[in-house]
Amino acid sequence: MTSVRELSFQTLEAVLKDGAYSNLKMNEVLQEHPLSVADRGLYTALVYGTLKRKLTLDFYLKPFIKTKIKGWVRRLLWMSMYQYIYMNKIPKHALINEAVNIAKKRGGKQTGNTVNAILRQVTTHPLRDIEAIKNKEERLSICYSLPTWIIHHWITHFGEETTEAMAAQMLQPAVQTVRVNRTKITVDEAIVQLTQEGYHVVQDDDIAHCLMVEGQGVMQSQLFQNGLISIQDKSSMFVAEMMDLQAGAQVLDCCSAPGGKACHIAEILNGSGEIQATDVHEHKIGLIQHNIDKLGLTNIQTYRHDATEPYEGQYDRILVDAPCSGLGVLRHKPEIRYTMTPEIVAELVDIQLQILENVAQNVKSGGELVYSTCTIEQMENENVIYTFLKKHPEFEFAMIRDPRNGEQVKTLQLLPQDFNADGFFITKIRRKDQ
Ligand SMILES: C[S@@+](CC[C@H](N)C(=O)[O-])C[C@H]1O[C@@H](n2cnc3c(N)ncnc32)[C@H](O)[C@@H]1O
Repeated sequence: MTSVRELSFQTLEAVLKDGAYSNLKMNEVLQEHPLSVADRGLYTALVYGTLKRKLTLDFYLKPFIKTKIKGWVRRLLWMSMYQYIYMNKIPKHALINEAVNIAKKRGGKQTGNTVNAILRQVTTHPLRDIEAIKNKEERLSICYSLPTWIIHHWITHFGEETTEAMAAQMLQPAVQTVRVNRTKITVDEAIVQLTQEGYHVVQDDDIAHCLMVEGQGVMQSQLFQNGLISIQDKSSMFVAEMMDLQAGAQVLDCCSAPGGKACHIAEILNGSGEIQATDVHEHKIGLIQHNIDKLGLTNIQTYRHDATEPYEGQYDRILVDAPCSGLGVLRHKPEIRYTMTPEIVAELVDIQLQILENVAQNVKSGGELVYSTCTIEQMENENVIYTFLKKHPEFEFAMIRDPRNGEQVKTLQLLPQDFNADGFFITKIRRKDQ
């Protein structure tokens, strides 16, 4: 039988070496290996913890590496260091033994000895002091395990204090939130049933059908399995909430997969109107359809379409939940911080503008387009919408309510520390009446 640490290490290899997405890979592994509640917790903590702290762990490890080691050995050592530094309930001998066993199994006795020697050094000597790093951006980079270009961008746009708060928040575990499918169950009933299933449930102050659910994975709950709730982050729920959807609305959601917001829109419209949910990737259309079927929604159609290519028809509301760098969702997908680059951000900005240019033609007179991203990069957010508006005087901002203070704003940049939720950007523009 494969041990929890072996499974964790295999997942880390899949993500860090082979480029798998952590959240998808973890779901796959947990479905294949039915672990006890405690082991699921340990598995999640080891994978997410090591991914989130990679740069910090490597900083601490480096002085103890005296000879060349293979990439996988370094990654195994990061996982052991994570347990040593951040999980103080795990005894030293347990974490060393487990690492040595994995190393022996994979690389033979010699590799096992090397891992043993390094970890014995690590656990008997003081670790380097991050505070001794003189350069501020480098220090924050190591402290919060974020590349310096991200730290630099954030400090430039948000200042040092907000950057640190944001970086610290990104290291915290994500809160488990669900959206109640009000076409099938009331919020009160959902709270009662989840509580009966053993979860601790708190209703959100800002969005009544958003529930914070504590307890073992909510995917196991009857309500999730029967399509009465969907897993969705609170910040992401604000998007459909801000679309000012009226019964009977014709809606296009052009970057729709896996369909979280399209289904939310359909639930708000409660069987009325019609939503076209499209995505460029054929294989993702099945994911949208799966969610539509599971939630029993009747007012959505889904099909493959490239949102940079013309659509037919005119819509009351269009949602562009754009492909983006995803730097607002680092708690769910921690590895993005190491794979994203300023060059990729620049390419994404091009696509975001192309999509806006294209679908804007399908907004009815007086109709509205919501542009959202799950990032905190201004290039992909404010810069995109202002660039678009500069070229399109036929559109104007439609003000939205800032849930933090009730003020009407043109653009809303939610940071992870605002609601202990993802970083999200939302703005809404209206085609002026002719
Ligand atoms: C942020 S995700 C959308 C998440 C979705 N709205 C939800 O709430 O579940 C962005 C989506 O845009 C899609 N995409 C990327 N380029 C596209 C294009 N040119 N046309 C349509 N969809 C595109 C991606 O496949 C991805 O599914």
